[in-house]
Amino acid sequence: MLQNQDPNRLQEKSVKDYFEEIAMTFDSYYKQEAETGGLIGKLAHLVFRKPAMACRYQAAFQLLGKLPDKHVLDVGCGSGIYSLEIVKRGGSAIGLDISSAMIDLANQNAQKLGIKDRCRFVLQDLKDFEPGAQTFHACIAIGFFDYIAPPQQAEVFARLLQLAKQDVIITFPKKWVPATFFRKIFFLKKKLDVYFFTKPEVMKLVGPGIQETTFYDCGSVWTVRFRKSL
Ligand SMILES: C[S@@+](CC[C@H](N)C(=O)[O-])C[C@H]1O[C@@H](n2cnc3c(N)ncnc32)[C@H](O)[C@@H]1O
Repeated sequence: MLQNQDPNRLQEKSVKDYFEEIAMTFDSYYKQEAETGGLIGKLAHLVFRKPAMACRYQAAFQLLGKLPDKHVLDVGCGSGIYSLEIVKRGGSAIGLDISSAMIDLANQNAQKLGIKDRCRFVLQDLKDFEPGAQTFHACIAIGFFDYIAPPQQAEVFARLLQLAKQDVIITFPKKWVPATFFRKIFFLKKKLDVYFFTKPEVMKLVGPGIQETTFYDCGSVWTVRFRKSL
C-alpha cells in the first residue's frame, strides 16, 4: 500500500516516473524549439528556465576548469548534455541516471556525435553506484539536488564528496526568487516535491573535509563548487 511506504522511497519513485515521462521534453529545453506547452509555459521558459539553464551550464564548465585527462561522474546526467560536452572538451565521463528514457536519449546523443568511446551512461541510482577501480576528478550534479528531500541531503552530499577526488559541483535552486513561485506551482500540479535553498542552507552542508566553496550566481540558481581538502 502506497500510504505505508517510506516517504523518501515515494519521492524517489515520483522523480523517476516524472523523468521517464518528460525525458524528450527535458532534452528539448536545450534546443531552439523547446517543447514548452502554452503561452505561460513558453514565457516561463524564456524568462526563467532558459537563462538559468544557460548560466548553470557556463558556470559548471568554468568551475570544472581544464578538462583534458579529467574523468568526471555526472550524477543525474539526464540526456547526457554535460557528459558529452566534457568529452568534447577532452575529458571522459560516466553519466548516471535513474530514468531509462534519459539514458536512452544520452546514448542516442552520444551516438549522433560519434563519441561513445569516452563516455558511458549507466541506468542506476546514485546510492547503488559502485565505482570499482575508477576514480573521478570531479562529480557534477546539475538540476539534481532540487529533488532530494531534506532528510537525505546530507547523506547524498557526503556520497558525492566520497566519489570525487577533488571537486563536487552542484546546482541549488534559490528559495526566495520569483522563479521559485512559478516552479512551485508547476510541480504542485505534477504532484512532485521540489526543494529550494538559501545560502546558509547550502553552507550547512559544508564540513571540515572541504577547503573552499565557490558560489556562481545564476539568478534563480547557484552553481556551487565544493573543493575537498587534500
Ligand atoms: C533536471 S534533470 C537534469 C539532467 C542533467 N543533469 C541536465 O542538467 O541536463 C535531473 C535528473 O536526475 C535524475 N535523478 C534524480 N534522482 C536520481 C538518483 N537518485 N540517481 C540518479 N539519477 C537521479 C533524474 O532522472 C533526471 O534525469
